[in-house]
Amino acid sequence: MKIFLYGVRPDEAVYLKEWENANPDVEIDYTDKIVTEETVDLAKGYNGVVMLQTQPYTRLALQKLHDFGISKISVRNVGLDGFDFKDLRDFGFSLTSVPVYSPNAIAEHTTSLMLRLLRRVPEFDEKFNNADFRWFPTIGEEINGKTVGIVGTGHIGSVVARLMLAFGAKVVAYDIKPDPYLENLGIYVDSLDEVLKQADIVTLHTPLAKRDIHMIDKAAFAKMKDGVIFINAARGGLVDTDALIEALDSGKVGGAGLDVLESENDVFQKKFDKIEDVKDPQFQALLNRKNVIMTPHTAFYTTTAVHNMVFDSLNDNLKMLNNQTPKFPVDISED
Ligand code: COI
Repeated sequence: MKIFLYGVRPDEAVYLKEWENANPDVEIDYTDKIVTEETVDLAKGYNGVVMLQTQPYTRLALQKLHDFGISKISVRNVGLDGFDFKDLRDFGFSLTSVPVYSPNAIAEHTTSLMLRLLRRVPEFDEKFNNADFRWFPTIGEEINGKTVGIVGTGHIGSVVARLMLAFGAKVVAYDIKPDPYLENLGIYVDSLDEVLKQADIVTLHTPLAKRDIHMIDKAAFAKMKDGVIFINAARGGLVDTDALIEALDSGKVGGAGLDVLESENDVFQKKFDKIEDVKDPQFQALLNRKNVIMTPHTAFYTTTAVHNMVFDSLNDNLKMLNNQTPKFPVDISED
């Protein structure tokens, strides 16, 4: 069997080698390029394809893979919003993902965004760099005793809930499919609005389904408490960024921790000479605020996660190629 991987970084290549050593009968090759109409030819002659990218997978690229006789695709990540499932159905693809590579990676990063905002780390860093080591007036706040609102309690949101409970927070959560363990703890409220109304800190942990684009819009921000801390380490498209900027300007949102942005594909995973060269107006509007912390979609990025992303995706791709049931099949029958 021959499997081709796209978008491979040097830190993944180490795990690829490990996987290859454990599977000597499989030939694997890779590129650091992502799948596009221009790079898709690289997969010609291979049986399966494993990929990872935040840019959308175009219909033409998928059609070409299909024309090469490839029908088994595995992605090394969890989010599937880069696909139009209709394209996958039209070309007869089977798809696997890695839905639980490390919920803790994202949950811990989420927590660190909260803590850095609550303890005013950007302000202390600035003071420190200016040799100002005084405490006053940069007094912080604690998670303990706060009400943390969790939107979505799947693999990641449920870990966030447990971490917040361990910190001594009151947790209020909403999900269309409640987690039985968390349900017993009585953390669920009846609606998204109720979470927004009660929470001192709101954190998003849902996928980006089409119906959830701009789930957090101007009206949603208006329902939140004044000075709320808002965290998004899920998907940029869940939030109307202009509404967020307005809410930061008015003080409605007291702090924002953002690992994802609506327009991140033009910015994240790229290297600019200087920060002013980033032309995205929303990015620039969020930059240099002492109450906004942005990280470039790095919540997932731990050694544990990357190891599991590589191993689980390759294992499942091979299973499909051998006509075995993969561990993490994706149901593409509905959009
Ligand atoms: C995902 O797993 O979907 C993520 O958001 C992380 C990633 C794009 C590598």
